[in-house]
Amino acid sequence: MSGMHVAFDLSFTHTEGRWARPGSWVGRAFPDVRMFQEIAVTAERAGMHLLFFGDGSGIPDTWRGSIDPAVEWGVQWPRQDMSPFIAAMAGVTRDIGFGLTYSSTFMHPFYVARLLNSLDHVTAGRIAFNVVASSRSADAANYGFDQLLEHGLRYERMEEFVEVCQALWDSVPAEAIVMDRETGRFADPSKVAAIGHEGQFFKVKGPLSTMPSPQGRPVLVQAGNSPRGVAASAKFADVVFGFGGAVASQQRHRRMLDEALAAEGRDPRQVGILWATQVIVGRTEDEARTRRDAVLEFWSEDAVGAYISHNAGFDFSRVPERIVLGELAEQIRAAQASPGGFVGSLIDECGPDHEISRAEFFEHGWRSATGLDHSAIGTPAQVADQLEENFAATGSRGGYMFTTPLATPSGLADIAELLVPELGRRGVLAPRTPGGLLRENLRA
Ligand SMILES: Cc1cc2nc3c(=O)[nH]c(=O)nc-3n(C[C@H](O)[C@H](O)[C@H](O)COP(=O)(O)O)c2cc1C
Repeated sequence: MSGMHVAFDLSFTHTEGRWARPGSWVGRAFPDVRMFQEIAVTAERAGMHLLFFGDGSGIPDTWRGSIDPAVEWGVQWPRQDMSPFIAAMAGVTRDIGFGLTYSSTFMHPFYVARLLNSLDHVTAGRIAFNVVASSRSADAANYGFDQLLEHGLRYERMEEFVEVCQALWDSVPAEAIVMDRETGRFADPSKVAAIGHEGQFFKVKGPLSTMPSPQGRPVLVQAGNSPRGVAASAKFADVVFGFGGAVASQQRHRRMLDEALAAEGRDPRQVGILWATQVIVGRTEDEARTRRDAVLEFWSEDAVGAYISHNAGFDFSRVPERIVLGELAEQIRAAQASPGGFVGSLIDECGPDHEISRAEFFEHGWRSATGLDHSAIGTPAQVADQLEENFAATGSRGGYMFTTPLATPSGLADIAELLVPELGRRGVLAPRTPGGLLRENLRA
């Protein structure tokens, strides 16, 4: 059994209705780079492995076709491009890694390969690249698309995108650099080669115009949840992100991934899944439960609708008074959106033939949007018990991505100061090599 890896998902910890909670950073400027640096130092000190930043560049507008609810409630908006913030955080830390997200549907692989190479230098080998196919139409509209590419095509493009990036990262190997001051010879041109890529989506000559970076390639992360998404993970991902919560869904994801990895000739024991999990920890059980109850206070139906519709790429305001879950999944699929995630977990829980009312559907949506459908709640010891049990039940590889803290930074500090040390004391936390490469520190 490998050790447990722990990460913070800092994607939109500042919004999602939580920005106004006690303990959040209101009163400081947002986005305050020093706040991110403090979080990085606290997480590193606790022994955590990764800080993760998701991305999506559009303001959620799938719900009723409007950005207004997202703007009013701060739902997955505002979002910065986090690459400069990562550079600032890297400057005050040594051991913790950073995961950054870009979309293979909208970005160009040459640009992204070059940027990630530079970030690998700046972080001294601690960068991971989360490749997303993007299921959100709000993003597409900012890149010249009237609608999203078809789901399967997005994954074909992702695989080609990664293939181009990998070829570029390999196009200037470390041994090509000579740097001989005596002769003035900088590099050996026979070892620096064009990649000459011409595919369905991209035409890239190469080679990359940069110096080889400490890791050579960033750690590659992927979060596809559908069979096609999992097949893409199996092709290239070093680490996978998964939805936490319902253990049956997690086990299904783990099984699908193991089969797909084996089909690719890869060793399933080497690829961990980090499960997105909300942790609400308190010094006493009562304190944790009071904090949990507070989560339920700050969501409006519009905010929930904006959140779940954006994530699935499907306007749930269209849900009728009664709906059979399997039929809803079909409608989502037909709209080229993602039937996994929240609706997928609901089907795992209740079955595809289960019929629910619109009100029940939104109640589930609320639990998903608040993170309470994938949460571990209690004292540090109780939460550690739950995580250990879930880790064993889901293949003992990977670990947890702690999402949607109650308030940032106080919720993150509670996890770093109360929970992570408890995992450390139990000896279940994966070790981190001081100054080591992220790839080594995340090895399953
Ligand atoms: C932990 C986690 C983080 C994710 N982060 C992002 C993200 O930052 N941006 C994004 O567009 N999608 C993100 N996703 C969504 C996935 O990329 C993917 O679209 C989703 O799991 C549905 O899978 P499918 O495309 O195979 O249907 C994330 C998913 C998970 C589980």
